[in-house]
Amino acid sequence: MSTPEVTYPEASEEISQQITVEALYRKLQEPDHGLFILDVRNADEFETWRIESRYPPEMVNIPYFEFFENTEHALAQLPQDPEREIVVVCAKGGASDFVAALLEEEGRSAVNLAEGMEAWGNFYVFRPVAETESYQVYQVDRPARGCLSHVLISQGKAAIIDPLRHTEKYQDFLAAQGATLALILDTHAHADHISGGPALALATGAPYYLHPYDGIHPFDMLPAKMEYEMLKEGMAFTLGDLTIQTIHVPGHTLGQVNFLASGPDGERFFFTGDNLFIESFGRPDLGGQGEAWAPIVYETIFQKVKSQIPGEAWVLPGHYASPTEANDQGLFAKRLADLWQENSALQFASREEFVEFVLSHLPIMPAEYVEIKRVNIGLTQPDEEEASTLELGKNICAVAAAAAAS
Ligand SMILES: [Fe+2]
Repeated sequence: MSTPEVTYPEASEEISQQITVEALYRKLQEPDHGLFILDVRNADEFETWRIESRYPPEMVNIPYFEFFENTEHALAQLPQDPEREIVVVCAKGGASDFVAALLEEEGRSAVNLAEGMEAWGNFYVFRPVAETESYQVYQVDRPARGCLSHVLISQGKAAIIDPLRHTEKYQDFLAAQGATLALILDTHAHADHISGGPALALATGAPYYLHPYDGIHPFDMLPAKMEYEMLKEGMAFTLGDLTIQTIHVPGHTLGQVNFLASGPDGERFFFTGDNLFIESFGRPDLGGQGEAWAPIVYETIFQKVKSQIPGEAWVLPGHYASPTEANDQGLFAKRLADLWQENSALQFASREEFVEFVLSHLPIMPAEYVEIKRVNIGLTQPDEEEASTLELGKNICAVAAAAAAS
């Protein structure tokens, strides 16, 4: 049975109480938030992506039209306690506004998520990893997509590792910190999201770095059309009191690098991109070469990283599969020595066992990934709507599935 077409009303003037994505996110960080989410989008949209939290809320999907076709039946699926707060969610905040108003009329406690899943998809959180006198490290989380990037600041100079698409978020943050962008580093040419790197370089004049192996499209074999500086193994950067070392870690892509930053206090921060995650590791097949690249992932992780990176370094990855991977501070961070013990996907006896596991657990590759790679090396330039369509929807599930690799 096909899903009926739903036309969402425009949210021109709100008729119900509103909650912003910031306020909703903050509430969801409380272990006992007790929120109930009513998602009124079509079932297929709900299946594709929905609000997630490290303390998962109770949630139900009842498409918008059901509230008007059979109100009683729809209401029966909601908590009956009139005090229980119901957050109503749709694509852009219009349909959910009507439903929230209807629930209020029925004596329920309902609020509308202002601007809906579109706002949720574009919401970023900046969290401190380390704040010392001489340097600061921040983790930037885009919760709707499970994408992470990192900002390093020292002596008024900033570096961004794996900047995401909404570059104004970083520029506003750096302005508030009184820091100037000096360095833009991508761990690899991303397939699941559009990099903010080239746009930040154009806007600020800061150099944008990528490994040249990733400056070639893995399917089209076309070279990058955007400006970039070439990363290579061992390349080192100085950012105020921090030093940042480049480590070539092929496998997820052939040109992937990781960055090991060292502070004057001896702390190390290991920015692992899509090499190591808190749970699992990066899939090797997004360049269409899974069988050839899976053994390379093994060598990178179990030979190079294991022998070269100190166990006390903090692993700060580029993605997470589930928000439950966060620690008590909401950070996706773990000392490398602990990761070797606790990452359940790193417990293999041999290379053969590892490769067999990887190749038998490869998730489907979303069609959008090929196009996103084109965008990320400057072969095409989507407008805002096209970029948003490429990034939202299916991609979030694929990222989660890819990161889980199990
Ligand atoms: Fe990636």
